[in-house]
Amino acid sequence: MPDRSPRLREALLAAAFTADGLLDLLGAPAYAALARSETVPALRATRGASPLDTLVRLFLLQRPVPHERARAALPLAECMEDGWVVRAGDEVRAAVDVRPYSGPEGQDWYIVSDLGCSVGGAGGIGSREEGVVLGVGGASATLAGITVRTPVASVLDIGTGSGIQALHASQHAGRVTATDLNPRALEFTRLTLALSGAPAADLRLGSLYEPVGTEKYDLIVSNPPFVISPGARLTYRDGGMGGDDLCRTLVQQTGDRLNEGGYAHFLANWQHVEGEEWQNRLSSWVPYGCDAWIVQREVQDVTQYAELWLRDSGDHRTDPAEYAARYDAWLDEFEARRTRSVGFGWITLRKSAAAAAGNPSVVIEEWPHAVEQPLGPAVQAHFARQDYLREQDDAALLAGRFALAAEVVQEQVGLPGAEDPEHVVLRQNRGMRRATKVDAVGAGFAGVCDGTLPAGRILDAIAQLMNEDPVLLRDRTPQAIRLLVEEGFLEPVGSAE
Ligand SMILES: C[S@@+](CC[C@H](N)C(=O)[O-])C[C@H]1O[C@@H](n2cnc3c(N)ncnc32)[C@H](O)[C@@H]1O
Repeated sequence: MPDRSPRLREALLAAAFTADGLLDLLGAPAYAALARSETVPALRATRGASPLDTLVRLFLLQRPVPHERARAALPLAECMEDGWVVRAGDEVRAAVDVRPYSGPEGQDWYIVSDLGCSVGGAGGIGSREEGVVLGVGGASATLAGITVRTPVASVLDIGTGSGIQALHASQHAGRVTATDLNPRALEFTRLTLALSGAPAADLRLGSLYEPVGTEKYDLIVSNPPFVISPGARLTYRDGGMGGDDLCRTLVQQTGDRLNEGGYAHFLANWQHVEGEEWQNRLSSWVPYGCDAWIVQREVQDVTQYAELWLRDSGDHRTDPAEYAARYDAWLDEFEARRTRSVGFGWITLRKSAAAAAGNPSVVIEEWPHAVEQPLGPAVQAHFARQDYLREQDDAALLAGRFALAAEVVQEQVGLPGAEDPEHVVLRQNRGMRRATKVDAVGAGFAGVCDGTLPAGRILDAIAQLMNEDPVLLRDRTPQAIRLLVEEGFLEPVGSAE
């Protein structure tokens, strides 16, 4: 059958069923309430009879609408034949959730998923069917934001779900392969891409790397079913392997699937096990031949974690005894695994020649503070700085020239009225939005860095000003410069001595 989704897309656009159109119709408070899965304000704002009122009620609020009104807003006969909507007496109901989603360049995209699955509401996902396919959640947006978006030939999206990552990838990739264990997810991905006017993807059914064998890619992304749970109940979140084994397997099997220079981005959860440093657990996951940057964004103790996911699946609204039994099972599982808490975060791998030669850059850190999304350019810059630092010994670093990164400010911290600050903090307003404490030399050095003088010469001048021995200062400062470069406060601009 020919793909008729372009006609539906045309109708949706003509009615202004877009992210901007919704904001105009609903107003900011009702629009924001909808993102929290609260539908009452939007119902009040769509009492009119325009095609946009009809489409919002039909696809977002999932209320039946009169047949006549549906026919005024949609190519109705086609939509019924193709399964977008179903007839219910004199009324028409949506068969799927269709949600306007604005692309990074303001593209009018649509995410198609199961009904009632708008993520983020107070009431859980609304469906506890094993194979339910969710729409866009906070995790989906985070992964899309941290992904490096350089033009590439091939992208693999593992666990594609509604197809959101494949949709983003379609804008900068020659071809996109999207896989899922759930056949319904592949169908939703097909609909999401078609309705968004994006090129079709190569859709493959199966677990993790099974459907692609030994094929290699320039970019791999996955927001996998990372939840550590006492049994596989919901395909979209419970990986079905014990503990954090699914995330470990996914990361470990990536080394052989990336082309040289290629990136892989994953969201993951990991166990914090008694008697083990979490950083050691994660560094053991990094595959041979890859550099890695792993950022732990949050840690929850096992009770918080169990409650989070019990609420996510709506279990808190079931019979109290059933809820208690499920909660107990969760804690039994963690006890058996000697797990005290669970880390949430991002894992980025990059295949590199230096890593293959036995000199990988592996940075594992905790950064729970707000960042500037999209973070993709900052992720790429992190690896470029690691490449630079890997090649510089201390002498080369002192011969190098550096510039203070854009929008770094200095904050002086100390008691009010004190003559001198207790310490100085450099703070980034871009990217990771890091802050770091520096001493007087560090602050003075960073302040002078405008890319003209080599680092060593700046240190000599500081030594003179502060009555310090310049040789000693040159000896002890490279480590601090290295850290300021690694964290993106200073950018290398070349070497001059
Ligand atoms: C959290 S959802 C992510 C969906 C989407 N990629 C996003 O970013 O919103 C995880 C997806 O992984 C799929 N999945 C579950 N187990 C899998 C496995 N072993 N291999 C591949 N996909 C799997 C689920 O069906 C689900 O679509």
